[in-house]
Amino acid sequence: MTHKVALNFSDGKTAFFDVHSNELLLDAALRNGVNIPLDCREGVCGTCQGRCESGAYTQDYVDEETLSEDDLAQRKMLSCQTRVQSDASFYFDFDSSLCQGGGTLNVSARVEAVELVSETTAILRIDAGAHDRRIDFLPGQYARLKVPGTDEWRSYSFAHHPNEHNKLQFLIRLLPDGAMSNYLRDRCATGDAIEFEAPLGTFYLRQVERPLVMVAGGTGLSAFLGMLDDISEKKCAGYPVQLYYGVTHARDLCEGERLDELLSSPSGRLFERLIDRYALGSGISGVQPKAVVPLAAEAASRPAEHTALPLRTVIVKAEGDDFPGLARNEYFCMSVAKEAALEVPDFWLSEDGKLFVMSRFDREANGTPLGFEDMSVLTGKAKYEGSYEMIAKAVDIYTRSDPEQKRRLFERIALSCLLRDGDAHMKNLGILYIDPTGPRRLAPVFDVVCTDIYPELDGRMALSLNRSKTFPLPAELLAFARRLELGAAASEAIMARLQDAYHTVAARLASDRRFGEDDLLPRIRRAVERPGVKPVTRPKVVR
Ligand code: FES
Repeated sequence: MTHKVALNFSDGKTAFFDVHSNELLLDAALRNGVNIPLDCREGVCGTCQGRCESGAYTQDYVDEETLSEDDLAQRKMLSCQTRVQSDASFYFDFDSSLCQGGGTLNVSARVEAVELVSETTAILRIDAGAHDRRIDFLPGQYARLKVPGTDEWRSYSFAHHPNEHNKLQFLIRLLPDGAMSNYLRDRCATGDAIEFEAPLGTFYLRQVERPLVMVAGGTGLSAFLGMLDDISEKKCAGYPVQLYYGVTHARDLCEGERLDELLSSPSGRLFERLIDRYALGSGISGVQPKAVVPLAAEAASRPAEHTALPLRTVIVKAEGDDFPGLARNEYFCMSVAKEAALEVPDFWLSEDGKLFVMSRFDREANGTPLGFEDMSVLTGKAKYEGSYEMIAKAVDIYTRSDPEQKRRLFERIALSCLLRDGDAHMKNLGILYIDPTGPRRLAPVFDVVCTDIYPELDGRMALSLNRSKTFPLPAELLAFARRLELGAAASEAIMARLQDAYHTVAARLASDRRFGEDDLLPRIRRAVERPGVKPVTRPKVVR
């Protein structure tokens, strides 16, 4: 006796086939070329889960942690344990494409390398190049690896997307006494034979149709690295991607970079590699391409300028051909801010002058994230809309009229005016907080560049001040300070301090090798030291 079943999938497709009396639904599906994802086949992992829409069925065994009483009442079922008792239809919350292709492969491969990142984390690289065809899987799926020399199997997500050379990589959590952990720590050697079964699992990247937020913990990062590989290749229609990655200890950070490597490597290829690896540039706005890079460990050699380098995540910005000298330009401007005692994150310039590296200002020293709202969010205005008066109002409201924050805002705007920074837009200023109900303060200075040296930009401010986007005369800036309720002596002292800092930095960097080989520094000096208000004739370039 046979029953007719229909399997409906989330992409609207349906598969029909017959099931023999007393046959498991999973076996019938596989017999008919429908490769329902599976893992344990014992009613425990839940990978083959679906829901019965109509018909009668029984289940041999269902682990109570896999399907609850409520789940069972909603007719959720496990294909590997289901025997249909009548014609029936079932729904599966994944695409039918997951059930196509060649099904699960059993592959013999070789260990290519193992890297013990920390006491709790390893990266295992496997060469399956001898396999007769490409090993295909969806980013996020996993493989079951047989621990060499044992009969134990362990499951790990692919940390990349499929490639024609069948080079595979897995992030592996090391346990004090785990079968795979002991093998990797004690016996693993390059060239060891290793078997695996793949692909498995229904956790994979669907069609990207909206911004993505990914949350990964420890070696759970592996599945997301595969997805990021895929996103990086397909570009995903420009949707921003944010990855939140947590580890118990900083030493467990995988796939990180060392600061000394960032600063001393040739920048072009290094930056491409960073973007390839972290694929996060799309989530960060601005003129420069940027990558958020977790530092793997304390740098072995520290730049002379900084004597302490705590572990933290940094932002790396690379200049392109469009704005030559941008990394050095930003380093110059941030150096002025620092010299003038404005609050700035730690920052560095690579030895070749092409990468600007900055600590995340939205993190505490121990890496704890701080709340950050940019002025675009707080005022409801687009990046280049609105005025500095609006920002002043937002600072007043969100810092509960804290005069210190108003003073800092004046410093920040006066800095941009001095340095002819036409990119101090709504997203380059913001409010930081630990707890949204607690004290809030203006974020440190970040993203300051003398844009006036680039003729393709319009030479105006990003936002208006006193109804004009033309850089203000000192008297107009002092009038703005009065509107912030800053005394004349205090605001004049701030402007004098910024001027002194500018001259000090300009003199210091004139003898810096990275500024000695072209005319960047003289161009910055001409822009900054030009007297009076600069006439504006150039068209606005939309960035
Ligand atoms: S394959 Fe694990 S529950 Fe069915």
